[in-house]
Amino acid sequence: METEIRQVKGEEGRQAIAKAAEILGRGGLVAFPTETVYGLGGNGLDPQAAARIYAAKGRPSDNPLILHIASRKELPPLVREIPPMAERLMDAFWPGPMTLIFRKSACVPRETTGGLETVAIRFPSHPAAQALIREAGLPVAAPSANLSGRPSPTTAQHVAEDLGGRIEMILDGGPVEIGLESTIIDVTGAIPLILRPGAISLEQVRQAAGDGAFDPAILGKPDAGLRPRAPGMKYRHYAPKAELAIVTGKPEAVAEKIASLAAEKQRAGFRVGILCPEESQGRYDAALVKTVGTRAHEETIAHNLYRCLREFDQEQAEFVFSEAFDEGPMGEAIMNRLVKAAGYRILPAGGGDEKIP
Ligand code: TXA
Ligand code: MG
Repeated sequence: METEIRQVKGEEGRQAIAKAAEILGRGGLVAFPTETVYGLGGNGLDPQAAARIYAAKGRPSDNPLILHIASRKELPPLVREIPPMAERLMDAFWPGPMTLIFRKSACVPRETTGGLETVAIRFPSHPAAQALIREAGLPVAAPSANLSGRPSPTTAQHVAEDLGGRIEMILDGGPVEIGLESTIIDVTGAIPLILRPGAISLEQVRQAAGDGAFDPAILGKPDAGLRPRAPGMKYRHYAPKAELAIVTGKPEAVAEKIASLAAEKQRAGFRVGILCPEESQGRYDAALVKTVGTRAHEETIAHNLYRCLREFDQEQAEFVFSEAFDEGPMGEAIMNRLVKAAGYRILPAGGGDEKIP
């Protein structure tokens, strides 16, 4: 299959979106930009479209999809109830980078929800995403538009690398704004439970809804006794080809340890990458030093993280050492993705090389 890539700007863009909506309507797949990452869209009420999404991504079909809507009016038919905490969260953060988990209504097929009785719903703020959903007149099921196990795509080019030839169309809206997937919040229990951290922080959730907590299973290392409530969180996502390790500690000690680890691997003949912020880029002279953003504006780190991980793959890095980025409101989300990409390899700058959570 040939994958058509079309821009979303201007009159040409309107035509491209109309064609994309038509493709969705007849069961096809279209990748589109959102403010978080690119999504791979299909008709959210069509079990066959869900099956095609899983096949195109190479994703296990027990991992449920998010339904994307373009107005709050579209929510009630899809869910059994809308708890008051959900209303408060939607007032505060929709449209935007927040996905809510509700009990599903009968019209949502189990093929879309991975067999669950709950459904994930998001109202994205990206104008092209909204236009596509509106024109299609359907809830659009959309996981991130990457092959399973690759970093989520933040440009149309990333989507083409992974899914070119497997889907009908890619709508190109340029680089996305945020760069990490939405905050997922389960509103079916007593308090809002964050199943996946994102741009909306726990503190913001508590401010809007009066309460909130993280799913204990997503904090620290995976624990056989604790099953994450978002099935996708149990997979080792975002795995770069290189062996990635995160070095933690005081800035000077971190820079020193990364420089010495990198030098050691380079002497042994390996291709070595370093992921660091602008603030410390001058401290390293290994072959592949990537500046992911600035600690002064940590959203720049979220914005560039997946692109940098993909570039290390392309440049065939064999070892990558990264600083930790755990400060500020997006620290939880950035570290959640980075720690998983590192397979939980965290090296304290002061001590030995043992893995710690
Ligand atoms: O920002 C985003 O959320 C992007 C854009 C495209 O909207 N989408 C995205 O979808 O990240 P995906 O499929 O890559 O991740 C969805 C996550 C998975 O971890 C899945 O397990 C979880 O949401 N999820 C979906 N439905 C769920 C449900 N009913 N209960 C618990 N977790 C659910
Ligand atoms: Mg994903």
